[in-house]
Amino acid sequence: MTTPSVGIIVVAAGSGTRLGADQPKAFAEVRGVTILERALEGVFGSVEPAEVVVVAPASHLSVASAIATRVAGPVPVTVIAGGNTRQASVSLGLAALSPDVETVLVHDAARALTPSALFDRVTRAVQSSGSGVIPSLAVTDTIKRVDGSAVLETVDRSSLVHVQTPQGFPRSLLAAAYAAAIEEYTDDAALFAAAGHPVIVVEGEARAFKITTPWDLRRAETVLGVTSGVRTGIGIDVHAYDAAEPLWLGGLYWPDEVGLSGHSDGDAMCHAIVDALLSAAGLGDIGGRFGTDDPRFAGAHGEVFLKATVELVAGAGYGIGNVSVQLIAKHPRLGARRMELETHLSQLVGAPVSVAATTTDGLGFTGRGEGVAVIATALVHSDR
Ligand code: CTP
Ligand code: MG
Repeated sequence: MTTPSVGIIVVAAGSGTRLGADQPKAFAEVRGVTILERALEGVFGSVEPAEVVVVAPASHLSVASAIATRVAGPVPVTVIAGGNTRQASVSLGLAALSPDVETVLVHDAARALTPSALFDRVTRAVQSSGSGVIPSLAVTDTIKRVDGSAVLETVDRSSLVHVQTPQGFPRSLLAAAYAAAIEEYTDDAALFAAAGHPVIVVEGEARAFKITTPWDLRRAETVLGVTSGVRTGIGIDVHAYDAAEPLWLGGLYWPDEVGLSGHSDGDAMCHAIVDALLSAAGLGDIGGRFGTDDPRFAGAHGEVFLKATVELVAGAGYGIGNVSVQLIAKHPRLGARRMELETHLSQLVGAPVSVAATTTDGLGFTGRGEGVAVIATALVHSDR
């Protein structure tokens, strides 16, 4: 295997004084997953292959290695002990890179939610410009210069940005700049610029904010709650009418209605919901999960499949947000029993289920009255 020409140093050796957790910051958890693990998921998600060096507290090397190996999978990853300052930790990381690395990115583990795309954006900009590259976001607040409590002036914010990591550099220039540095700088780009090299900005990412205080940790949890771990699924089922069968639909018995044919009780509504839930949780489909040759499910009612599915989804670590169902059929008319149906299905699923119905204006098999179709969508969520 050839060594990648890109190296990413992830500094995670700080103590996290301002966060005030009972362990170093990289091992504090955001919704059950450590900051280090989340940061590395972003790093290893980048498209460009990279050699990754994790700089961890000396006291936590083995736990850091376990996390890094888990995220890296088959890709090798190096874990080393850091220094007393961030600059010292970066310096140790640089020394651990293999000689083939030409472009180096330095990233704060504390920016745990940084999207993978930002790594690739910075890498490409370094490779095409030969400069130092830093992600930046425009300043949106009005900025004042003050002296104690006295406001001196409003600063023109149009020329100001705030900057993030990963910061990227030609490796040899950064290593030389680090070797020559005799003072502490606030970021790698400042140290690089002090050595006389140009630095340019690329667009940053709001999600790359740094977790510094307990408030930042709650912000990260909130961001994840809204945007991550949410998945949708879809399920469709069709059954033909069979006047010789009783009608079971949505787990309810419908007396005086024409029934549906099928291997089980023909409950197309339960089957569509099962498929929607399985697909949302990435668990395949009803045919694959509940084979027609499995005697437990021969002639089984729809709710048997539904209950088994709810257990599978929970076992895969997902909670169910809601389910929406639409029946496409000439009959039965749901009207009078819609509330009862929704209540029954919501109890089975353990989450709100809404049911609607429509006809197809005489078109197609449902319009000709040959059978029913049901479409269901489901939303599931995990805490990750
Ligand atoms: N860092 C490091 N080695 C140090 C200090 C900091 O590797 N000696 C890393 C941190 O782990 C973090 C990043 O540099 O990922 C940015 O530093 P900061 O947010 O200041 O983290 P801490 O130094 O851990 O926090 P605090 O300053 O509140 O103690
Ligand atoms: Mg610090």
